[in-house]
Amino acid sequence: MFEEAQYFAPVATRDDGSVVVELATTHPGFADAVYRERRNAIAALALGHTPGDPIPHAEYTDEEHHVWALVTKELAVKHDRYAVREFLDGAAKLGLPGDRIPQLEEVGDLLEPLTGFRYLPAAGLVPLREFYGVLAKGLFHSTQYIRHHSVPFYTPEPDIVHEVIGHANTLASPRFAELYRAAGRAALRVESDEALEFVSKVFWFTLEFGVMREGGELKAYGAGILSSYGEIEEFRGMDIRPLDLAAMGTTHYDITKYQEVLFEAASFDHLEDLVGTFWDTCDDDAIARLTTR
Ligand SMILES: [Fe+2]
Repeated sequence: MFEEAQYFAPVATRDDGSVVVELATTHPGFADAVYRERRNAIAALALGHTPGDPIPHAEYTDEEHHVWALVTKELAVKHDRYAVREFLDGAAKLGLPGDRIPQLEEVGDLLEPLTGFRYLPAAGLVPLREFYGVLAKGLFHSTQYIRHHSVPFYTPEPDIVHEVIGHANTLASPRFAELYRAAGRAALRVESDEALEFVSKVFWFTLEFGVMREGGELKAYGAGILSSYGEIEEFRGMDIRPLDLAAMGTTHYDITKYQEVLFEAASFDHLEDLVGTFWDTCDDDAIARLTTR
């Protein structure tokens, strides 16, 4: 069963209006009262945000800015080796700060002139139809918190490192940005929850965890791989299968572990021709035919 909810820490609003992020006991920040207070405050910012208004400024500590700087530096080395050219070109054009965590408003200011995308703050899990639907309008929901500083290269949930280093650098490419928009249009077009789940799983196995042949080498373009210090070193050893819509839309995955099954596009054209065309044309009937094949 596709269950994205477990990916994010649940967010609750108490009777007095205060917002609480419920970190699991295994979360690296669980016993850090100061971190938890900041997580609650950052979640409250997103819940109080009205689309169209500027995104509220999130407060980060010097330790958290240091985590960003460290991860940015280390990932950049790995990107040079493992990321597709389109991602590297996008990252160079976007020019994210390397020494401090950017505010989401600032990320949008950098991104919009390139591909029209802006960011929206998310407290935690965003319902699938809303998350994907706004992609069609060039909007990307993003968490604002950063992982706990005690483990800079690990996070049990998607944090701003994933959302911005992984996704914004990708969204800086017009070709990738168009694929994100196509996924959004597909999510708005399909009606059943099953069809929406299929669309989201194709997104998972491409824009989150996709790999591509480039210059004879296997490279990564999925934001989930490109934002993970450990996974980016492992993806070439995984079970690599050819790009296949029916397989991607129905293969089970476990979000709590490194992805063991990955799908390889033979080229960027191949990705656009197969997946882009699917998102541009799919409806519930077409997806039902793929799932019962
Ligand atoms: Fe993501």
